[in-house]
Amino acid sequence: MLDIDFVRAQFPAFAEDSLQGQSFFENAGGSYTCAPVIDRLTRFYRERKVQPYAPYRASELAGAEMDEARLRLAGFLGVDTQEVSFGPSTTQNTYVLAQAFRQWMDPGDAIIVTNQDHEANSGPWRRLADEGIEVREWQIDPDTGHLDPEKLNELLDDRVRLVCFPHCSNVVGEINPVAKITALSHAAGAFVCVDGVSYAPHGLPDVGALGADIYLFSSYKTYGPHQGIMVMRESLARLLPNQGHYFNADNLYKRFTPAGPDHAQVAACAGMVDYFEALAAHHGVIGATPTATGVAVHDLMRAREVKLLQPLLDYVSSRNSVRLIGPAQAENRAPTVALAANTPGFALATQLADQGIMAGGGDFYAVRGLSACGVDMDKGVLRLSFVHYTTEAEIEKLIESLDAVL
Ligand SMILES: Cc1ncc(COP(=O)(O)O)c(C=O)c1O
Repeated sequence: MLDIDFVRAQFPAFAEDSLQGQSFFENAGGSYTCAPVIDRLTRFYRERKVQPYAPYRASELAGAEMDEARLRLAGFLGVDTQEVSFGPSTTQNTYVLAQAFRQWMDPGDAIIVTNQDHEANSGPWRRLADEGIEVREWQIDPDTGHLDPEKLNELLDDRVRLVCFPHCSNVVGEINPVAKITALSHAAGAFVCVDGVSYAPHGLPDVGALGADIYLFSSYKTYGPHQGIMVMRESLARLLPNQGHYFNADNLYKRFTPAGPDHAQVAACAGMVDYFEALAAHHGVIGATPTATGVAVHDLMRAREVKLLQPLLDYVSSRNSVRLIGPAQAENRAPTVALAANTPGFALATQLADQGIMAGGGDFYAVRGLSACGVDMDKGVLRLSFVHYTTEAEIEKLIESLDAVL
C-alpha cells in the first residue's frame, strides 16, 4: 500500500502556505511537480545554464544530465535510449509527426483516427486529408464513450498505414487495450501512434511490452517540467523522413524534434525518475531492471487510485442531475471524471473553487468526443481528476462539496 505521507512529502506544493486548504482536482490539466524536478531545474539554472556538450565542466555536467534523463526514462519505459525524445509539447510533437507521415505516405493511403482523442492526436492527422490521404474515423459509442476494437477491425485494410488512438481519453477516462489494438493494427500492416498523455500520470507504462510504435506523453502532467516526451521505435524512426537538420538525420532523438531542446527542462526530467525510484525504494519494490521498477511503481499508483476512485464514481452515479461520461467502474478507468450537468462545467468549477476545490470546466480540447457523446458544448463538462497523491479526506471533501453545488 502506498505510504501517502511519504508521497506527499515529495511535493513542495503540499507544504506551500498559499495552497493550504485547497484540494487539487485538475491534475489531468497538469500535476504538481515533485521536489527532485524542482531541485534539478534550479540547480541547472544556477550552475549549468550554458550550452551543453562543450569541453568545460559546467557544460559537461549540463549535457550529462540531459543524457541521464533520456537514459533513465527509457529504462522505465522499456525502450532504447535513442528512442526517447523531448519536444516542447505533445501537440507540437504530433504536428511534426504528421508532417513526416505526409512525406512518407502516398495519395490513396489511409490513416485511422478516433473521435475519443484530445485534438492533439486527431487534428494534425485529419489535416492529411488535404494531401490526398484518406482519413477514417474510428467512432466511440455515443452512450458510453467506449472505443470498440471490433469496430477498428472493420476499418482496417491494406491501405491503412497508421492508427492513432489514446491510451486513455482525457474526458472518457476508460483505459483502452493498447496491446490488443496495436496487435490488430500490426496484423493489418499499420503502425500505431498512442496518445498516453492522460494515462502516463497514473504510472508510466512499459511501452516495449505494449508494442506501440509511437507513444506520447507530457511530463508536466507526470510530476515533471513542461515537455512533450515521445517514444518512437527505431524501425519506424528509420523509415520516416528526417524532420530535423540534415546532418542530424542519424541521431534518432533529434530526427523528429526540429527545435533546439529546452536544456534545463530536459535535464530536470531525470527528477521524475528520481521520484519514481524513491517511491519504489521506500515501498521495497525495486525490480531487477528499471522497467520492472517502473511497472511496480505503476501498480502501486494504480492500486491506490482505483480504491479512491470507486466512492466518487458511486456518488456521481447516484445523482440524477449529472451524467457521468465513461465507465462507472474504477478498475478500467483513470481517475479523470467528466460530468455533464444542466449548469455549465465552468460555472460548477467556479462554485467548487469557493469550497476549496480546484477543478476545471469546459471542453478540455476533447470537443469531438464530448460532442459525439451528445454533451451540450455550450455547457461543456465539469472535470474532476486526481492522481496517487490525493487523499481519502480530499475525496470526502470533494463529495461533500459536489453535494452542495449539484
Ligand atoms: C489526452 C491529451 N493529449 C494531448 C494533450 C496535449 O498535450 P500538450 O499540452 O503537451 O500539447 C493533452 C493536454 O491536455 C491531453 O490531455
